[in-house]
Amino acid sequence: MLSKKRKILVTYALPYANGPLHLGHLAGFVQTDIWVRFQKMRTADCLFICGCDGHGTPIMIQAEKLGLSPEKLIEQFRAEHLQDIKGFLIEVDNYHTTHSSENQALVMTIFKRHLEKGNINKRTIKQAYDPEKQMFLPDRYIKGECPRCGAPDQYGDNCEVCGATYTPIELKNPYSTLSGAKPIEKESEHYFFKLQNFSALLHDWTRNGHLQPQVTKKLDEWFKVGLQDWDISRDAPYFGFKIPGEENKYFYCWLDAPVGYIASFQNYAATHSQYDFSSYWEKSNKTELYHFIGKDILYFHTLFWPAVLNGADLRTPTAIFCHGFLTIDGHKMSKSRGTYIKARTYLEHLPPEYFRYYLATKFNDQIEDMDVNFEDFTQRINADLVGKFVNIASRCASFIQKNFDGKLAKQMSKPALYESFVKEGDSIADKYEARDFNQAMRQIMALADRANQYIDECKPWAMIKNPELQQETHAVCTLGLNLFRLLAIYLKPVLPAIALKVEAFLNVAPFTWADKNKPLLKQAIQVFQPLTLRLEKTQIDAMKHAAAQDH
Ligand code: MSP
Ligand code: ZN
Repeated sequence: MLSKKRKILVTYALPYANGPLHLGHLAGFVQTDIWVRFQKMRTADCLFICGCDGHGTPIMIQAEKLGLSPEKLIEQFRAEHLQDIKGFLIEVDNYHTTHSSENQALVMTIFKRHLEKGNINKRTIKQAYDPEKQMFLPDRYIKGECPRCGAPDQYGDNCEVCGATYTPIELKNPYSTLSGAKPIEKESEHYFFKLQNFSALLHDWTRNGHLQPQVTKKLDEWFKVGLQDWDISRDAPYFGFKIPGEENKYFYCWLDAPVGYIASFQNYAATHSQYDFSSYWEKSNKTELYHFIGKDILYFHTLFWPAVLNGADLRTPTAIFCHGFLTIDGHKMSKSRGTYIKARTYLEHLPPEYFRYYLATKFNDQIEDMDVNFEDFTQRINADLVGKFVNIASRCASFIQKNFDGKLAKQMSKPALYESFVKEGDSIADKYEARDFNQAMRQIMALADRANQYIDECKPWAMIKNPELQQETHAVCTLGLNLFRLLAIYLKPVLPAIALKVEAFLNVAPFTWADKNKPLLKQAIQVFQPLTLRLEKTQIDAMKHAAAQDH
């Protein structure tokens, strides 16, 4: 039977280009990359699209601080981010920017379609304004005294001292963090996207299998409050796309940010003609579209984005996959606690695959936070990767080299054992597909235990001394290495660099998922090289020490 090749487009949230990436950002990238690599191993046509988010007030302010143009700032961070992402072996097919000509053209088209359909209106609102800096102030640039306990220097939404929540207007003695001036209220006309127009569509869409059940439940709270109009404009000074027909107004960065997914796709498609806009983005498409995101940006992706797409006559996502936040040693990432670890700092001290594997043992399809506990991290790596997985190969390979001319036998000692490992591959695949990496890793490590147990029972190191058991030893080690090979196939989405070394060791082409079905026999293999080293506490300490110096 000829099955149709799946065509899948995957995105990860576009990181803001105003600072370095930290391990939290990388967690989401790793989850996405594992899933994408798995799809590619199953020979799906799967494209991983991403890029940087280059618009908004914080980018403008940061550029000003550094004495750079915003264009220069985002180009620098885009390049730096891409380097970090590649350092973690994330295989993005395209990494574009929201500040691009493709994105501008798309935003204009989408805006025009919504205008024509009456989904956008204008009205005047009052907002906090910094009279010295002469700009409207987003909440995060306003501080003051807590209206409840009087603690100084609290942000405009909640008090870090007593936990009270409030609006910036309620702060006592408020000041602008940009100039120190007392904010005044000022009127301005804004563009609003009428989300209400899509309430029937969204009510359906959010319960039709496109979202994790937990997410649908969360959205229900928002539905209950009622869908609010969405302010999609910002006054100058701002860094973004100008609204057509306006002198001093720009599109809010969250309007053009998700459109950046399409723009990055288009930018890639320009040089890869098999990817055409209509089969991926028009309503009649037959392709799959998945957005991986963190839980903080749910609202934008599950309500605004489907509405923006639908109203602009574009397809909506097949699913949104939302993940929780990464904490470090039980704490939120925070510079003052020393739990803020930049991607670069990690890479300067530890191999990327340790992080990938450790996270794989944590990820499931839920949106709970995940903790990186570095003691547990060290134990997991040493017990699973070094002690269980790699150990299988090092216990079998030397006999093949020394006693059997570097060649695998023409049969394995216990083909049924091999077959049972092959069979489990199907349920491991289901777990990858369902983003239940935690369960997939458990199952793979249970297989590694069985393989080691088998070798323990056979004792090839004793068998080899008996001249009558030479052929049998050969068959045992050949089975051992074939079990190891299966585990390397199953772990390849998580451990791509180690898998590459295993492919070289076994003299084989890059593993695909289907390779599991046939054992490797009679093959001449290479001398076994250590695949990975024990992780020492001193390495973790050095990394943490460097992280503490980072700010
Ligand atoms: N620019 C927006 C996304 C636009 S998508 C059209 C943005 N950028 S971000 O840099 O703040 O975040 C990028 C991604 O990193 C988001 O998915 C966010 O949830 C994720 N994370 C940021 N901190 C994180 C953790 N501590 N843990 C896990 N993910 C984290 O939002
Ligand atoms: Zn307070």
